[in-house]
Amino acid sequence: DNSIKKSMPFYGKTVMVSAGPTYEAIDPVRFIGNHSSGKMGFAIADEFAKLGADVTLIAGPSTQKANQNLKRIDIISAQDMLNACSSIFDNTDITVMCAAVADYKPKVVSVQKIKKQENNLTLELEKTTDILASLGKNKKPHQILVGFALETNDEENYAKGKLEKKNLDLVILNSLNDKGAGFKSDTNKITIFNKALEKTVFDMKSKTEVAKDICEAILKIIK
Ligand code: CTP
Ligand code: CA
Repeated sequence: DNSIKKSMPFYGKTVMVSAGPTYEAIDPVRFIGNHSSGKMGFAIADEFAKLGADVTLIAGPSTQKANQNLKRIDIISAQDMLNACSSIFDNTDITVMCAAVADYKPKVVSVQKIKKQENNLTLELEKTTDILASLGKNKKPHQILVGFALETNDEENYAKGKLEKKNLDLVILNSLNDKGAGFKSDTNKITIFNKALEKTVFDMKSKTEVAKDICEAILKIIK
């Protein structure tokens, strides 16, 4: 009933979460992608929905199933994800960019299947738009923007750099040096930095538990 709903921590908040990989077409049958499973982003979207938020999940290609209580927009490429995120961002209170967006895409998408040649093949790649950075530029003071940083080395400095460069309220560091953390796994280990560069280190947990920690960290800064 409504009084229970109203007592939920994110009641009345509009939340956007991105999840999964993006696929960048090479030709009609091939793409450049990555190993993101979507598990972390889906878990975050589900957790926000459970806590009463009005959630839109922007999902790249993934076999994950989402909670019934959220809107799901399926996209393929980084450009699709940019279009979807940009179209709803102004109406969101909280955005968490969890997707593993491709940094590069083929400059030319062949209309026909590329035939095998005698020689090697070189593909020219061009940069995609950094969606998170573009949302950061357009962010209004009441909006909360959270990004991830997936790193293998010099993790903390890179994560803090992304927080500042992309105008984030929180950055969630995912170090691939932690065993049991990363794309395919059901567990994750994160470290969160806020704008004051205060650091919170979390234990290795299931992605569902990690999603709860992330929602709690966001609740702290909107209170
Ligand atoms: N991101 C994005 N759009 C892109 C690339 C990344 O929105 N084209 C977002 C990711 O969803 C993530 C954050 O930016 O929340 C950081 O992604 P990451 O790949 O760790 O960092 P990059 O800024 O892309 O830098 P690099 O890959 O060189 O470390
Ligand atoms: Ca990247």
